[in-house]
Amino acid sequence: MSAVEALPREGLDVSEGGLWARSAWRPMFAQLRENDPVNYCQNSFFGPYWSITRYEDIVAVEGDPQTFSSSWEHGGIVIFDMQDTGVQLRMFIAMDDPEHGEKRKAVAPAVAPSEITKLAGPLRERTRAILDALPVGTPFDWVHSVSIPLTTAMIATLFDFPWEERNKLPEWSDWAAKIDIGPDPVLNAERERHVFEMAARFKELYDERRAAPPKADLLSMMAHSSSFGDMDEQRFIGAIALLLVGGNDTTRNSMSGLIERINQFPDAWAAVKTDPAALASGAATETIRLQTPIAHMRRTATRDVEFRGKTIRKGDKVVLWYNSANRDETVFPDGDRWDPARENSRRHLSFGYGIHRCLGARLAELQLVTLIEEMAARDMEVKMVGEPHRLPSCFTNGYEQIMVTMTRAEGGAHG
Ligand code: HEM
Repeated sequence: MSAVEALPREGLDVSEGGLWARSAWRPMFAQLRENDPVNYCQNSFFGPYWSITRYEDIVAVEGDPQTFSSSWEHGGIVIFDMQDTGVQLRMFIAMDDPEHGEKRKAVAPAVAPSEITKLAGPLRERTRAILDALPVGTPFDWVHSVSIPLTTAMIATLFDFPWEERNKLPEWSDWAAKIDIGPDPVLNAERERHVFEMAARFKELYDERRAAPPKADLLSMMAHSSSFGDMDEQRFIGAIALLLVGGNDTTRNSMSGLIERINQFPDAWAAVKTDPAALASGAATETIRLQTPIAHMRRTATRDVEFRGKTIRKGDKVVLWYNSANRDETVFPDGDRWDPARENSRRHLSFGYGIHRCLGARLAELQLVTLIEEMAARDMEVKMVGEPHRLPSCFTNGYEQIMVTMTRAEGGAHG
């Protein structure tokens, strides 16, 4: 029997939450890449869908947005149809051009390199304060003690969001990102409540910023942009949610993933600590590659199309598995290895590809590099205590909790 025949006739369902909670998906994706890289799964919690698992195929799909649409009108950008969620978020990530391009242009200046540079100082200060407050030798949860407070502080700075209310940000973001709760009416009502609360608060702040002279924060920029100025309420909520979810869970889960990687590859971590000037940046990119905080994006075929010998029908869901492309052996040899010296690490697809490529990539990298540099400066050793608690989601690839113990250089930072 050939390897292809060994695959189930109805396709492999790689979307099942338990696979992600157990971190058990690697062999299934390796099998798909090898034997049936464009695989049709007939039955899943999310309905039928195509899995695209090789690097070059994802690039090809994302390079043809006319055929493979992101629009919410066809169901949007995640495996779960957006029409099926109680509240519909009109995010420009889930729009096609020209509307997508206009909205993207309005937000882009806020995350331009010149703006990011301004954030570097406050970011380093916060990172230092958080690391120096961690308990030495006593177990604590890295997710709630480091990843969440650091990313929340960054997003609050980006929006100039009231500091004393900042803990609302991850709460709202987590609910907005819960796409795999299915049609459950109770959970959807709860999600709706949080999303409306977020919308109402941001609308207040938006109106305040609109009435005031322009400032450099994201909300003020949106309030004074002609593209956003007369946006309807749903599109406004969508744009905010996108920046919140985009900047929150993703960066948070990269910071948490770092801990799993340095525990798996202690020699590589020792090398980073010895020469952070040479390796911190590579360590950050490798962490983002291997974590792949957004495991997939979805497109919908706008016409019947032949793709790698398969016929994808108009209306079919096409799921782009970045976690798989990031381990494609033809691009990343020994792809599961965390190698801060890897030469082509930056080619990873964790930020997507093409017209929707992540707007916050540089900001995310800056946060992670800063964290790694400050950990290295303190000669930090962070050891996991037991298995991490992972999210049961094939979209947000991340953690609920990682219990660790930590040691650092006597007398705090050095270097
Ligand atoms: C490690 C952290 C991050 C990861 C892994 C990530 C991942 C992604 C991915 C996969 C996409 C879709 C790309 C595509 O469809 O080709 C995306 C889009 C986007 N991201 Fe990120 N992101 C991160 C951080 C951020 C941050 C910090 C922000 C902003 C503060 C942000 C804002 C956005 C926006 C606005 C889009 C939509 C772009 C568009 O549709 O044109 N992201 N991101």
